[in-house]
Order: sequence, then structure tokens, then C-alpha cells
Amino acid sequence: MESVAGHTMRGAILPGNSTVEIREFPVPKPGPGQVLIKVRASSICGSDIRCIYREHLGKGPEGYQPGTIAGHEPAGEIVEVGPGVKQRKVGDRVIVYHITGCGNCWDCREGYLISCTSSKHRAAHGWQRAGGHAPYLVTEENVCVPLADSLTFIDGAFCACGFGTAWEALTRMGIDGSTNLLITGLGPVGLAAAMLGKALGAPLVIGTDLSEARLRRARAKGLVDHAFNVKKLREEEILSAICDLTGGHKCERSIDCSAAPSARVLALKGTRRWGRCAFVGEGNNVDFQVSEVLIHNQLTLYGSWVTSTRHLEDLVEFLDRHRLHPEATSDPEFFFPLDQIARAYELAAAGDCGKCCIVFGD
Ligand SMILES: NC(=O)c1ccc[n+]([C@@H]2O[C@H](COP(=O)([O-])OP(=O)(O)OC[C@H]3O[C@@H](n4cnc5c(N)ncnc54)[C@H](O)[C@@H]3O)[C@@H](O)[C@H]2O)c1
Ligand SMILES: [Zn+2]
Ligand SMILES: [Zn+2]
Repeated sequence: MESVAGHTMRGAILPGNSTVEIREFPVPKPGPGQVLIKVRASSICGSDIRCIYREHLGKGPEGYQPGTIAGHEPAGEIVEVGPGVKQRKVGDRVIVYHITGCGNCWDCREGYLISCTSSKHRAAHGWQRAGGHAPYLVTEENVCVPLADSLTFIDGAFCACGFGTAWEALTRMGIDGSTNLLITGLGPVGLAAAMLGKALGAPLVIGTDLSEARLRRARAKGLVDHAFNVKKLREEEILSAICDLTGGHKCERSIDCSAAPSARVLALKGTRRWGRCAFVGEGNNVDFQVSEVLIHNQLTLYGSWVTSTRHLEDLVEFLDRHRLHPEATSDPEFFFPLDQIARAYELAAAGDCGKCCIVFGD
């Protein structure tokens, strides 16, 4: 590859008023232990919309640092390695696990850099350090997860946060051929849970949403067996339908991917006695009768935040073995070049679309 040292590139930042701005940045140079990645796909997550695009939620070291290149779901190809890089090499196709940590705390040593407890060293791409909405990105060697040959760069981008999050929550709860799955919220994370839940063995996958377009997409792609519109049906009606579909038991596993308080309650109430429920939708609140809903039904409730570097590798292997393509949960009409990124964010914020992704040419 031609050297890009000293070149500039165009990158997108999010000012926090539902707009996107393109600015010029120097092409970064990899330091010790770092690699330069030519970004090939960089998708948009619901968290980008909620915490950065509409407004900058979360201040200080946890929040988006104004002027930072956005995008925390990058995948691409390594084009340069810095001094001391041990394992990765030029030409490797990789997913960027999007958070770098101190490397020493308990969470980092377990591979959960997402929950690194060092506020000084923890940094997420697209929030505190440059993200994937630009043609080049520098990251640490130890957060590069190899992308299997069978997977596309868009598949890789979808894994960096969304599919990784669904994978972690489902595998933590345990899904197999004896567990039906209820998913509240059929946005990109909900559809990831649907695709993975089915492949992990769930005989029946039931979903809910309030967007007719999203319900239609989930059904048309065969990702859910049944899908209910919470705007058209009352909670009791949906619960009664779930009972009818499951021999009166409800679902052994459930996952909220919406962050809506009522959807969290539905996920809990739709879980079978002794079953397990995970919350991954972020923000908001929840209010329910703890004894009646949780304790007396012997439920286990999980909170789950993204995944670990190792579990992201497991996910890649699983997708490769099952010949699954995360990008099939969306459609090419939602994949845009960088100069149309404003449109991609507008659509993602409107909430009826498939998962939006910025794609870069060779
Ligand atoms: N826990 C984590 O590590 C993690 C990682 C990534 C994303 N997230 C969060 O997961 C959530 C989903 O992400 P996404 O990218 O799919 O976002 P999204 O906002 O596109 O999807 C949310 C979906 O929930 C639906 N919804 C809203 N209210 C509902 C209700 N009452 N019942 C059923 N469905 C309802 C919306 O119509 C939408 O389709 C967001 O809150 C995001 O911030 C969490
Ligand atoms: Zn995310
Ligand atoms: Zn740490």
C-alpha cells in the first residue's frame, strides 16, 4: 500500500443537535503496540443516536468528547503496524472491539475492556478516541479480533457492538433447544438476538416492537416466528398470545432490547417461572411489583454490557460455522458512503429502518 503518512482524511463528528459534520483530520500514525486500520465498514448503534447524535448525554470521561470522530462499530483491514506489535500483521481483516482499557484491572484481564475500572485509561472509539466514521483508524493490537473469511466487513461491523451485545446476553443466560425466546424491541440489537437465538437452538422466537416497518422486516426475514405490535395490543393480550404459543408456559428466556420501561416489564412477565431475563436496552427506568413479577416466579434477571474480546472471537467462530451473515438483518438500502452519513443518521434516528452502516471502498 502507498504510505498515507502526512495525508489528511475526512471524518464525521456528531455535534449533539441531530446533525453530522464532516471535518478534515490527519491520517493517524500507529504508536507502539498499535495498528493502522483501513476502515471498510462502520455501523451505527442505537447508543450513538441516544447518547451522542440527539444530545451529548454523560459528561466527563464517560461521555462523548466533542470533536471526536464518531462510530464505535468499525471493521477493516490492517495496513500498517506500529513498533512492538506481536501478533497482528498487515493484511489482517479485523473487527475492532471498540473499547481499550488499562489492561490490568479485573474486568480488563477477563477481556471485558468495556467495564475497565480505570477512568484514566478506559477509552471507547467514537466516544473518547477517534472512531470508525473515517477511512483510517488507529487502535491497539489487543482489541483487533480476526474476521473469518466467510464474513463481510459489514458483518464484522455489526458484531463490534450490536451482535456482540446480543451474543453475550444470550450465552450468559444460556439458550438451547429447550428454551423459547422472547425479544422486546426488534431494532438492530433485537434482530441480532433473534438471528443468534434461533441458531443457538431456540425452537420459538417471539418479538415485539411498536414500529410496523420493523415488525414487518423481522417477519419477512424469518428472524422471528411471531411478532406483536405493542401499539395495537395491550399487555394482557400479548401475554395471553405468548401463553397460547408456548403451551401455557411463556418463554424460558427473554431479552429486552428496547430500553422502554413497559417493554422491560413485558419481558419479565413473558418469562416462564424459573426462567431468565436479560436487560440490554440502555437508559430509562423500570417499575414493577418485585414480589409478584420477579421473586414469586423464581426469575433470574441479568444486566449485560457489550461483551468481552474473547467472547467476540467466539461469536465470529459461531457465525462462521453456521454460515450466518449479520448484515442479512438489514438491507443494502441502509448502507451509505461517508458523504451520505447525515442521511444514515437521520434514518437511524427515525427508527423504522434496518441497521445503518457507512461503507468505504478499496
Ligand atoms: N447493553 C449493551 O451493551 C448495549 C449495546 C448496544 C446497544 N445497547 C442499547 O440497546 C438498545 C437497542 O439498540 P438498537 O441499536 O437496536 O437501537 P434502536 O433504538 O434502533 O432499537 C430499539 C427498538 O425498540 C423498539 N421499541 C421502543 N419502545 C418499545 C416498546 N415499548 N416495546 C417494544 N419495542 C419498543 C423501537 O421501535 C426500536 O425498534 C438501545 O437502548 C441501545 O442503547 C445496549
Ligand atoms: Zn453500541
Ligand atoms: Zn482496566
